[in-house]
Amino acid sequence: MPAIFSTAPGKAILFGEHAVVYGQPAIAIPVTQLKAKAVVQALPLATTGTIHIEAPDINLDSDLSQLPQTNPHAMAIQLVLDTFNINKPPSFLLRITSKIPVASGLGSGAAVAVATIRALSNFLGQPLEDVQVCSLAFEIEKLHHGTPSGIDNTVITYAKPVYFIKGQPIEILSPTKSFTILIADTGVSKATSETVAQVHAAWRANPSEYEVIFNNIGEISKTAYSAINAGKLKLLGQLMDQNQNQLSEMDLSSPELDKLIQSAKEAGALGAKLSGGGQGGNMLALVDESNQASVQSALKNAGAASVFSTTIP
Ligand code: PMV
Repeated sequence: MPAIFSTAPGKAILFGEHAVVYGQPAIAIPVTQLKAKAVVQALPLATTGTIHIEAPDINLDSDLSQLPQTNPHAMAIQLVLDTFNINKPPSFLLRITSKIPVASGLGSGAAVAVATIRALSNFLGQPLEDVQVCSLAFEIEKLHHGTPSGIDNTVITYAKPVYFIKGQPIEILSPTKSFTILIADTGVSKATSETVAQVHAAWRANPSEYEVIFNNIGEISKTAYSAINAGKLKLLGQLMDQNQNQLSEMDLSSPELDKLIQSAKEAGALGAKLSGGGQGGNMLALVDESNQASVQSALKNAGAASVFSTTIP
């Protein structure tokens, strides 16, 4: 039997991170240059029920039976088997590789989960619908984030730009004008679960102040939705700056992020902000043809560990 594989893209959050956990709208885009890949290969000669997992990027090489149930790879496999009520699975090898940096706001955990769920369900001859893939990946996101909004698994499952409100049907965006975003890495990794917990504690301590911030971010996301639909890129850039200010108010920026954001703006970016959990990870800069090259080199000169562009068609 040939190996079955599936890939899933990374993602970036354009607007609304953190506030989305509290019911506000957010906008996210797939980042197709970065991919996670899961390959499932039958092991006909192995002892019945052998399930082996290899993830060389994280030095994992283990039988499923040796992994704790809370391991995200183990959980992805178990969720798929449970979905089909399979108690005696055929023996197989799951091999996972990913070009998406971990703990940097680009959705690596959700992409690995989506690729694994799709590859395994296809291998079992029972391909899952997107809505099922998304909801199983959400269960795994809980391991990574504690209280995830569901935006990562959603944008990655559908691989389209989405306008997302927790618990509501998603809306796929179709921008009237394409736009280009530079994604620059601070080189500092930070677990999203930590910043999500920090915001939660600060909100509990000071609910009225934080609810004003969440509402402000929600309004920014709503206006950004209209700006994307109307192709108003200058306004979109201003909204990114406003969103960044609100994220800074919540202490989610960092000196490295601030430096990259400032240099992108000075080099002519239409707007710039952190993306995802914050306090490290990646930042985004909205550019046009006239300033893309200068912003890109400004980001490199300011110490970005990597810079690449993605265009939303
Ligand atoms: O996975 P990250 O770092 O891109 O962050 C996800 C966005 C948050 O709003 C911070 C958390 C969530 O679950 O929505």
